[in-house]
Amino acid sequence: MAQLWGGRFTGDTDQDVYRFNASIDFDRRLIEQDIAGSLAHAEMLCRVGILTEEEARAIHDGLTGILCDVRSGSLLITEEYEDVHSFCEAVLTERIGEAGKKLHTGRSRNDQVALDMKLYVRDEIDALQELVQALLRTILTIMKENTRTCMPGFTHLQKAQPVTLAHHAGAYFEMFRRDSERLTDIRRRMNLCPLGSGALAGTTYPLDREFTAEALRFDGPTRNSMDSVSDRDYVIELLSALSTCMMHLSRFSEEIILWNSNEYRFVEIDDAYSTGSSIMPQKKNPDIAELVRGKTGRVYGALMSILTTMKGIPLAYNKDMQEDKELTFDAIDTVKACLRLFTGMLSTIRFNKEVMEESAKKGFTNATDAADYLVSKNVPFRDAHRIVGHLVLTCIERGISLDELSLEEYRKESEAFEEDIYQAISLTTCVEKRCTAGAPGPAVMEEEIRECERFLELCKGGKQDE
Ligand code: ARG
Repeated sequence: MAQLWGGRFTGDTDQDVYRFNASIDFDRRLIEQDIAGSLAHAEMLCRVGILTEEEARAIHDGLTGILCDVRSGSLLITEEYEDVHSFCEAVLTERIGEAGKKLHTGRSRNDQVALDMKLYVRDEIDALQELVQALLRTILTIMKENTRTCMPGFTHLQKAQPVTLAHHAGAYFEMFRRDSERLTDIRRRMNLCPLGSGALAGTTYPLDREFTAEALRFDGPTRNSMDSVSDRDYVIELLSALSTCMMHLSRFSEEIILWNSNEYRFVEIDDAYSTGSSIMPQKKNPDIAELVRGKTGRVYGALMSILTTMKGIPLAYNKDMQEDKELTFDAIDTVKACLRLFTGMLSTIRFNKEVMEESAKKGFTNATDAADYLVSKNVPFRDAHRIVGHLVLTCIERGISLDELSLEEYRKESEAFEEDIYQAISLTTCVEKRCTAGAPGPAVMEEEIRECERFLELCKGGKQDE
């Protein structure tokens, strides 16, 4: 047992209590952030005259040495330490002596862990952004290649009106665009540095909080020391954004699972992203999509868990907050893996365009257009709706589609029908005429695609909100 406290204790900690209390098992993951924070803190202590140049240099070299050895694997973060902070201070003092014991001047593990967690979340937001943007690029490729690929659009999972594959994919572009914007937004709001808040009430040392904030690439120091050490809003915001992102991935997965089924056959998932059955030789299962859909629950769980943990905590730091780590790490790892695998699956999927088009033709998706045709011939819409409804009924009885009815049959229902009805209800016309902003018409879609490209360009330059 190596711990940073003990002076006021006469008895030893119970072994079981020690293990229950310790966080080294999981906060060892914060080693890079912990050392970055300590480097900035030590440099600042030197600038304000609390550490000598010599001490600061020894601490600097000691800490970079520890990082190097941890990275190479020659130094292990073992369970004999209570947490990653204790580990660093103990090893530093072992290696450089007295100066190591001065590093914690004007600092508490409370502002230290608040800082480590913020640095970690900030790095992970950047990594998540990359992955979301890679997915957006894949979706955009599908959009560009399919502005004229007709397919049925559904409501209530019933064929409704014809759309294009570009338009359908474009709906997901919008969802993941919002996910990306949410990440940008969270990063901006959380980017204030808690270091220098002490345990809860600041410190009596003349700490230069502006300096450490800038050294660690924050926009400035946090404004209230009690809030600084007990704020986990950014974790909650991130887990909420990630839950929404998983909900989007899950919906897309569900569609891919449906589309990949024997009944739909709209897509075929590449062999590399499918699995087989141990008993049924014919099976090729969409396990990746199913797992992404399944793992959504786990990320929602993390959000519920941290919200519940935080709800009854009086100011300021309480040990409950140690519970933020495992679930945040797990949720971030899960979402990153899902984004990576899903993007891989999507970029190798094959779309059976003929099957999609055939399906759009078979499902009366042009019935609204037939009614609109009558409206253009001066028939009131409500009458047009009823007339076309009758025609659809006839078609269903005979197992044919609207374009297979003879003109005679059309005219039996309404004299307003003429030869040009066939042109009016062809799939191509139906899609092309839908040219209001945001509709599937290829011309507006091309415009939309250019806008999506501009968004991704801005993301590349880190200027998403311009
Ligand atoms: N392991 C602790 C956490 O994750 C670090 C902060 C400990 N502070 C304290 N006063 N015990 O929250």
